[in-house]
Amino acid sequence: MDIVDFLKARGSTPWRVLGDPGPSEEEIQEFLAAAVTAPDHGAIRPWRFFVVRGGAREAMGEVFTEALLKRKPDADEATVEKDRDRMRRVPLLIVVAASIMENHPKVPPSEQLVATGLAAQALLLAAQAKGYGGVMLTGDHAYDSTVKAALGLKDKDQIVAFVYIGTPEGKMRPKRRPDATKFTRDWTGPVA
Ligand SMILES: Cc1cc2nc3c(=O)[nH]c(=O)nc-3n(C[C@H](O)[C@H](O)[C@H](O)COP(=O)(O)O)c2cc1C
Repeated sequence: MDIVDFLKARGSTPWRVLGDPGPSEEEIQEFLAAAVTAPDHGAIRPWRFFVVRGGAREAMGEVFTEALLKRKPDADEATVEKDRDRMRRVPLLIVVAASIMENHPKVPPSEQLVATGLAAQALLLAAQAKGYGGVMLTGDHAYDSTVKAALGLKDKDQIVAFVYIGTPEGKMRPKRRPDATKFTRDWTGPVA
């Protein structure tokens, strides 16, 4: 498929309908190779990828649970179970984080975050191009020090996305997309 047609047709798959099989080791390496082609000012390579699969998923579910209960000690059982359910159901999670260089002379942290976000998108698109479904999510866990510590990240580092990947159950309906022209102007000179 033409890459523009592919991009126009892409859509995220909700994690509840992502199941087995997940990508093979070779496929995961391919997706990561696609991710590190993201534009990267200063060649800082701010991205860090944490591949969570197999038995490690349950451990990550427990990290999420511990983090949630620290934030909300009175969280109800259904809320607690949601994280565990997601980690049981989806075969692969790749956590994409930015290891931020705070005092880079040319590249501010915001650009390092953009580069890492682009890497996350490239990863997701690569998985979708190979027939998998996926979605990138954040939520409170992305900003949680317990989760960051479990990944070995520092406070200044940022989790940019949890990218969930699996095989979609059933076919996704084409998505309605906004009209790009609504966000676009021809610029012809300084605004008076
Ligand atoms: C950085 C980032 C974080 C996101 N976090 C969430 C999230 O926590 N929950 C959610 O429902 N969607 C989240 N989204 C949106 C979904 O990834 C997805 O784009 C959305 O469900 C729309 O589907 P589409 O990609 O097919 O348009 C996030 C998107 C980005 C870029």
